[in-house]
Amino acid sequence: MRTFVGLDVGTTGVKGILVDEQGNVLAVENERLPLITPQPAWAEQDPYDWWEAVKKVLKRLSERARSMNARIESIATSGQMHSLVVIDRGGKVLRNAILWCDQRTHAECQEATEALGGEGNVLKMVGNPILTGFTLPKILWLRKNEPEVYEKVYKFMLPKDFINYMLTGNIKTEHSDASGTVMYDVSKMDWNLDVLRELKIPAGMLPEIFPSNGVVGEVKPDVAEDLGLKGTLVVAGGADNACAALGIAVTDPGDVMVSLGTSGTVVAPTVSGSPDPKGRVHFFAHTVPGMRYHMGVMLTATYSLEWFKERFLNEGYEEINDEVEKVPIGSNGVLFLPYLNGERTPHRDPYARGVFFGISSFNSKWDVVRAIFEGVAFGIKDSFDILKELGVEIESVRITGGGSKSKVWNKMLADMTGFEIEKPYVDEGASYGAAILAFSGVSGEHPAKISKSWYKVKSATKPDLENAEKYNLVHEKFKKLYFALRDMFKE
Ligand code: XUL
Repeated sequence: MRTFVGLDVGTTGVKGILVDEQGNVLAVENERLPLITPQPAWAEQDPYDWWEAVKKVLKRLSERARSMNARIESIATSGQMHSLVVIDRGGKVLRNAILWCDQRTHAECQEATEALGGEGNVLKMVGNPILTGFTLPKILWLRKNEPEVYEKVYKFMLPKDFINYMLTGNIKTEHSDASGTVMYDVSKMDWNLDVLRELKIPAGMLPEIFPSNGVVGEVKPDVAEDLGLKGTLVVAGGADNACAALGIAVTDPGDVMVSLGTSGTVVAPTVSGSPDPKGRVHFFAHTVPGMRYHMGVMLTATYSLEWFKERFLNEGYEEINDEVEKVPIGSNGVLFLPYLNGERTPHRDPYARGVFFGISSFNSKWDVVRAIFEGVAFGIKDSFDILKELGVEIESVRITGGGSKSKVWNKMLADMTGFEIEKPYVDEGASYGAAILAFSGVSGEHPAKISKSWYKVKSATKPDLENAEKYNLVHEKFKKLYFALRDMFKE
């Protein structure tokens, strides 16, 4: 039997799946990852923690494959986007990775935007504004604040490219991750040399760009021996959101993915679309050759609920869903702004924070919890509204991520957006898209074709238009609340 591995190097953990040629999932392995928070609003991870976790996951998957008499032909990795890894000439990691959710680079974003002639120019050059989460301002921060580290840097890398490097010894990237650095021209689909020149970043410090389904190399002999992966090929892989979309056949204009994970994203592929002139939704390259996508990003989606549950609730998720379902739309007057760590869509605001509003002595604990569910769903609805404003046509909506297990969130999103929300039969997130790339890389089949043939619907939640009207009224108040508080967040 031919088998393939899809890995996902996320923020909370590493996941690996083993699939066959028909897309059946034969084994799943997980390892948790620690997060390092040196200061409030900073977020780092040690790339060697990713690598140790990847090795454990791969070792277990190769044992599982062997027990089925199967050989792992190829591996592809999906990774958290934007996070900066720096290595020296000997390939040693020079400091912890600065992550996508880290907010330390506000000053560098402003300086780089000014140096490039203002935001209008930046949008033309790279398709996106320069935001704190993206890779470029992290490089500038490092140069300014840790010059002794910066001068030793040989290459700037992204998380999944670092894993590919550890597996093969080859330093490459591919379009979907390169586009999240804001040093890449999404229209021309290549590094933007003008940006690099203007900001004095040598182009040679960036990896060569490959197709997402291009073969980066073979697993190095010593690693292959250790992990039982002799002769296994490593395929480039992609950015986690692009891989998650590929994994549920969101590959063409009209398809939309809602990913409800730690962060919440709305991905809408486009061939010829142009960037949002207000920079509220991102414009990146897909893992499907030549395809691009618009993406709205909420920085804390399911994490808002996890955060609250960990600190204040004793109930499990099933009971939470049951109780929240009984509370009427509007949470009996309670509103929640889900901006615990700042926000990107619809508000590009690193200073925004979480807010509970409108609580009275009448309210129960479950009103407050329902407000969290509604706040997160309104955040996703905000992305749909922006896509509509940009003229993006939506035909089908598919949901993935941990939050997609919640019946309440599925129903809320169907009612708020007016679209039927499809749940995929295989819901392994970004690792499934990575497995498609692994298969595509060695079979030569088009990733979109594989993904359409592997995708099956498990269930669908229909919208209720009466509820939509009720939600609209609450959504208006939710939107006003942010603007009423915007200046105070900054203070
Ligand atoms: C997308 C983003 C996050 C990370 C999560 O722009 O920053 O969704 O990709 O890993």
